[in-house]
Amino acid sequence: MTVDEALEQLPEILKRNLDRNLCVCNEVPKIRVIAAIAEGAHDLEAVRQKTYASDGNGCCRRQIEDLLECLASPESGD
Ligand code: FES
Repeated sequence: MTVDEALEQLPEILKRNLDRNLCVCNEVPKIRVIAAIAEGAHDLEAVRQKTYASDGNGCCRRQIEDLLECLASPESGD
């Protein structure tokens, strides 16, 4: 999915402050986390590998999980 499609799936409350750092420890803006999920990072570990978000003390994990819940719905086929 594209970043735009990802944004369409997010509730308003998760679309705020897209350019602010979601991961303050590693200075990863929220939009970058969203882009990583859109590109196929479908769990916390994949997001961390792609963006380094949550790779500090993990304090932003919850926020990433919220985004994953909205965007990375389990896909059929495998
Ligand atoms: S804010 Fe992301 S690990 Fe701390």
